[in-house]
Amino acid sequence: MTDYSLIVQQTQALAEISPDRIAVMANVSALLYQAMEGVNWAGFYLVKDGALLLGPFQGKVACVKIAKGRGVCGTAWAEDCVRVVDDVHAFAGHIACDSASRSEIVVPIHKDGAVIAVLDIDSPRLSRFGKDDAAGLTALAAALERCID
Ligand code: SME
Repeated sequence: MTDYSLIVQQTQALAEISPDRIAVMANVSALLYQAMEGVNWAGFYLVKDGALLLGPFQGKVACVKIAKGRGVCGTAWAEDCVRVVDDVHAFAGHIACDSASRSEIVVPIHKDGAVIAVLDIDSPRLSRFGKDDAAGLTALAAALERCID
């Protein structure tokens, strides 16, 4: 099980050095990618000009732009809720960046009441993400919302 409270502490410590959102998100991507077992992509898409634009991440080359409501990321943004997908092949409209991906979790990040980004994590294992991951990553999102610029 991933130690999300440790990742939250590390995120807060890194944000004290600089609260710049890109710098913090870059390091959070690295922390998650190293700390989570069975993960092949971890990173952020940023809300920009009415779409999601690829942000800091770890993993293979990814889709650059995602429309609101498209894919798991665009759906989590449009609905402003955490999306856990046990089998991405069964999710209509899933955007396959890495054909190895089988399950996914997406968590919206807010600032001033609006979604400014989504955190997206993919796994080559079916049903990789459970309630503990959703709770831990929601706590991480809340910490990010407090400490980034
Ligand atoms: N699979 C995502 C697209 C982003 S890549 O996984 C990095 C989706 O359907 O939203």
